[in-house]
Amino acid sequence: MNVIRPGLALDAMLGGIAAAVRAPLDGRPAAVADAIAPFLRDPTLLDGRDCPSSPDRYARHLLGAGEGYAVVALVWRPMQMSPVHAHRTWCAFGVHRGILTEHHHDAATLRPQAAFLRCEGDTCHGAADPSLIHRLGNCGAEAAISIHAYGAAFERFGDGVNLVLA
Ligand SMILES: [Fe+2]
Repeated sequence: MNVIRPGLALDAMLGGIAAAVRAPLDGRPAAVADAIAPFLRDPTLLDGRDCPSSPDRYARHLLGAGEGYAVVALVWRPMQMSPVHAHRTWCAFGVHRGILTEHHHDAATLRPQAAFLRCEGDTCHGAADPSLIHRLGNCGAEAAISIHAYGAAFERFGDGVNLVLA
């Protein structure tokens, strides 16, 4: 009988990310997104990890970290949204479970200009750029989980990742 050890898929994903963050900065977000992608549809990805949701806001759980970056799972209850924000650092994310909606906002007016459904297995990435303004949220009826990597130590997530605009 095959026994799948909890954490095997997560360890493999974190190993791939650790290699991808050594890519040159201009290609790093895409390399990290490519490292996340193969594991997003694996139902065992978060086995052994306690990743509860919160009634107050989307919940963030540290999965792993290395020199100058950290990987987190975000758990979204229905109708939980991020603030409208840009990023102070590179980022890459993918959807593990459920469907998220991403709005892109105009840099001058902050009005939403486009909306995209991000479904299980989808990835996105971006450079540190104050003009790349977006908002991520769960407009669906079921909880959603996404995997995010940022070019900042977890201890700096409070002020080192999101440039909150609204
Ligand atoms: Fe973001």
